[in-house]
Amino acid sequence: MPLATQNYPSRGQTSVQELYQTEIGKLFLKRVSERNHEECQIDVSSGTLAEREFWAYCLAKQIGLFVPQVWFLDTFTTVQTWLDYPDGHIYKTSTGIMDLEARNIFDCVLFDWVTGQVDRHDANYLYDLKGCNVIPVDSAHSFLKYEGSMPDYLHLYEIKYTDKLNRKIKSNVFDKLFGLSEKKLKETVPLRNDHEWNALVDRVKKAESAPSIENLINLYRSKK
Ligand SMILES: Nc1ncnc2c1ncn2[C@@H]1O[C@H](COP(=O)(O)OP(=O)(O)O)[C@@H](O)[C@H]1O
Ligand SMILES: [Mg+2]
Repeated sequence: MPLATQNYPSRGQTSVQELYQTEIGKLFLKRVSERNHEECQIDVSSGTLAEREFWAYCLAKQIGLFVPQVWFLDTFTTVQTWLDYPDGHIYKTSTGIMDLEARNIFDCVLFDWVTGQVDRHDANYLYDLKGCNVIPVDSAHSFLKYEGSMPDYLHLYEIKYTDKLNRKIKSNVFDKLFGLSEKKLKETVPLRNDHEWNALVDRVKKAESAPSIENLINLYRSKK
């Protein structure tokens, strides 16, 4: 049963967005167009936005970061579980700046850094109020050959938790990510473009010596 097919939930650019009520809960279908790729200057032959969103999900799953489950339907289409949490934009607008939790933020930044995420604005993450957790969604703008940009929630964390920035974080996500062989990484994120693959390997290498949120911020700011 389609719940909404027009103008909801449409904050971004994806040309088709449909929300379905199914026996296994709400599912969100997205279909990107050629135009979506042109506008974002993404070469479809290297990986469509749908493929990139699916690869990002596969990597998150591999390293144990919680994100909605994504299914790849065809080159331009994904379906994912719809989680009933507000996104960061809605939360900030209605309530204010969220409380954030160091390990969750560290894990999300690690994921966003390594995947080279360029689009983590406040409507591209959900906020679980109870666990004070950020949940990345819409990770389609990833694995490009350039470095990502600083996620919105990281700006919030940096301002609110200045005294916690340089703490070394113990994280299973970190351990799992750096326990991945290059072969396993390639199986999980099968990039076809060599520049994109080399950029991914380079970002992983840089993150390995970044055990605190401050270290990760410095990667974005290109400091040692
Ligand atoms: N899996 C999900 N669960 C709950 N809300 C979601 C989910 N994915 C996206 N949303 C919400 O829908 C909005 C639009 O989806 P998004 O994937 O960002 O597509 P686009 O940016 O192309 O419109 C998001 O800003 C967010 O509010
Ligand atoms: Mg979006």
